Amino acid sequence: MCGIVGAIAQRNITPILLEGLRRLEYRGYDSAGLAVINADGKVQRTRAMGKVIELEKALDRQPASGHLGIAHTRWATHGRPAERNAHPHQSGGLVVVHNGIIENHAELRRQLQSRGFTFTSDTDTEVVAHLLAQYYGETDDLLSALRLTLNEIHGAYALAVMHQEQPQALYCARMGSPLVIGEGSEEHYLASDPLALLQVTDRFRYLAEGDHARVTRDGCEIWNAQNEIVERPISRYEHAAHSLDKGDYRHFMQKEIFEQPQAITDTLAGMLADDHVLTAVLGPEAENRLADIGNIHIVACGTSYHAGLVARYWIEEQTGLPCQVEVASEYRYRQVVVPANTLLITLSQSGETADTLAVLRHAKTRNYLATLAICNVAGSSLVREADWRLLTHAGPEIGVASTKAFTTQLVALLWLTTALAQVRGVPAATLKTNLDALRSLPGLVEQVLTMEPAIIDLAQRFANKHHALFLGRGAHYPIAMEGALKLKEISYIHAEAYAAGELKHGPLALVDEDMPVISVAPSDSLLEKLISNLEEVRARGGQLVTFACETVDHQSGEQDVTLHLPNVPDCISPILFTLPLQLLSYHVALVKGTDVDKPRNLAKSVTVE
Ligand code: AGP
Repeated sequence: MCGIVGAIAQRNITPILLEGLRRLEYRGYDSAGLAVINADGKVQRTRAMGKVIELEKALDRQPASGHLGIAHTRWATHGRPAERNAHPHQSGGLVVVHNGIIENHAELRRQLQSRGFTFTSDTDTEVVAHLLAQYYGETDDLLSALRLTLNEIHGAYALAVMHQEQPQALYCARMGSPLVIGEGSEEHYLASDPLALLQVTDRFRYLAEGDHARVTRDGCEIWNAQNEIVERPISRYEHAAHSLDKGDYRHFMQKEIFEQPQAITDTLAGMLADDHVLTAVLGPEAENRLADIGNIHIVACGTSYHAGLVARYWIEEQTGLPCQVEVASEYRYRQVVVPANTLLITLSQSGETADTLAVLRHAKTRNYLATLAICNVAGSSLVREADWRLLTHAGPEIGVASTKAFTTQLVALLWLTTALAQVRGVPAATLKTNLDALRSLPGLVEQVLTMEPAIIDLAQRFANKHHALFLGRGAHYPIAMEGALKLKEISYIHAEAYAAGELKHGPLALVDEDMPVISVAPSDSLLEKLISNLEEVRARGGQLVTFACETVDHQSGEQDVTLHLPNVPDCISPILFTLPLQLLSYHVALVKGTDVDKPRNLAKSVTVE
């Protein structure tokens, strides 16, 4: 979604801002803009519709340079994508960029208009610019103006602010949307995501909820919501060693699919001993309380939700603990019954998803045993605000379609299942099956990824398709859901997933010779039932595409395609069956010619509700 970059330095900061925006492109946006305070001491603002390259072209036509500035990529919420709605927004000599949503913008707009302010955009953000300008006019002090403004706005925000009369500092604030301050040598930066600043620093201070700050060339002062000065420690960015370019791959998504063996190896590092899992990685408090857990709620969105659904099968089967999984946008507004000793697991790649974060924050008012964040970003809000944390180490995921984050989440969840089974005294042989399976995963993932050439051929069949059905059973039903989500998100083919047993309760009516039906058929206890479901599809002329274990002897019809995966232990089978579905959606998207890494209308990190 929207991205923020800011910088203050002795040198011209325009290249830092532009490079920062380029690094945020993966998040999805529709316009971009920046403002600097130029050599004449005036705000110089440039905005452009479309990609950052359009902003660069505008700056080539009319260069802007300065020692402080703020920049933004906008993903439209209030007001359609248009240059006049692009940030920064300006009120006299004051400029602001904003991520989030100002919920009381309509009322504030009316009040400001009645006081004579003229609006030039349809955005919620412009009220912030005018409010700041109004209070700056009254107090002559930008910090006071910021505080007075924050008292009036409701909703979610990360804000970066500057005024041409105050060229010695940038100001910022956060509530509900992430913001970091980057530390340089006699220069400082701001960003909504540390990735934007890795070209200049790997040292960041993460602002906490309600914080606001003044950032100068030499340092920063941070205040909490009560206006008390606070110290936020500097952390080194963990993924700095990861390459942030595509290398020899055509897209980030393809690169990230092929990074999975390494991502799984990194996630498991330090977590397994020969015959047990090393629960110390959860921290001492969690380790001591694992045995007290009597119930589990898993809450997440999108792909992360699918990982939670797979984990429910593992947890219930291997530990006997009741486990409920729900999308965060529903869970947060339900009167959820929380039985005694419930562990709330929030699951997220980014750790900044608004609905998932809201669930975690609301949990503080309920009687959960504890909250656990499973997340790929160490400095994220989710990780910092949860009681316990379990990090995946997939490295930065740039493609909007989540791939390596999903499989590493599954690895973390299978590890957690094993840890829960261990404290509940399950037989050593059961633990060993999980441990051996986890250890064998990186090699097996590499092996399954060699299916790519066969999947490239298969993808051609989807060139003219508009619909597809995905089928699975048991723990592979959520894998079918994930396959359908991947296909629709990057190829724009309408895809639905069903538990195969549900077919004749309605969806079978959709099946004809034009409908591809993609199924995942591992060699497990539900295989025979699944094959009966597939026969029902074949009898109606549906085109069957089946991913099956090599020992599955499923007769293909003339129109059908069956591709085989190795036979593997049941517990890791969902992880391996995910891979051909990722490759299929990727290659279908190539055939369709879509923007694979930045599919239309989507954002990488959904930081607003
Ligand atoms: C995945 O391909 C999606 N782009 C999306 O569903 C994503 O998984 C979802 O928005 C949740 O994100 P999170 O894991 O960062 O919380």
